[in-house]
Amino acid sequence: MKIAIDGPSGVGKSTLAKAIANEFGLMYVDTGAMYRMVAFYFAKNNLDYRNEENLKKFLHDINIELSSDAKFFLNGEDVTDFLRTQQIAQISSTLAQFKSVRDKLTALQKKIAMTKNVVMDGRDIASNIMPNADFKFYLDAKAFVRAQRRMDELGKKNFQECYEKILQRDERDLNRKISPLVRVSDAIFIDTTDMDFEQVRQKVFDIIRTGG
Ligand code: DC
Repeated sequence: MKIAIDGPSGVGKSTLAKAIANEFGLMYVDTGAMYRMVAFYFAKNNLDYRNEENLKKFLHDINIELSSDAKFFLNGEDVTDFLRTQQIAQISSTLAQFKSVRDKLTALQKKIAMTKNVVMDGRDIASNIMPNADFKFYLDAKAFVRAQRRMDELGKKNFQECYEKILQRDERDLNRKISPLVRVSDAIFIDTTDMDFEQVRQKVFDIIRTGG
């Protein structure tokens, strides 16, 4: 079984994907974390990530592995705990615009999708990585709700700052030239603005159990 989940930042894709993986015995592949790993590498080594030539120069030094318990290894080092900061989020949404970065990561994602039963979340999963997925979900929510959720997740106090960061990432994710965030026509659309996680989980589990 293959399940694709797409949607904008802060909509709750990863929490849902983890729950699906547990319930239905699938591997969870967090593709956003892969972009974050590349971002972490560039940030840690103080390298310029805004320039495609420079990205290309260093990309082949980056080796990404996922363990079966959802840990992320960058060149053999477990970096799972360093990926979910606002700085890494911003860098990852910038470098995700570049072809060389996308080519490297999408090849890896397609390879995993071909060989495993997975639930994969990201921006281009149904449109590009798993167009033949058994279930395609597109989650959305109003930006102010997503900002509030991000604020709670990261323990931040400044709503305005979180809100602006979400809007900036939406702008980059929706408007980039290569594989922007899109809702494919056969995706099951769920607006989670007025739903709590339990309601979303219930709805999605019911759809999977009853075959859509
Ligand atoms: O889902 P996330 O917030 O962890 O993703 C981080 C960034 O990576 C996001 O701003 C856009 C990019 N991304 C992407 O371009 N394509 C994906 N499939 C997943 C993430």
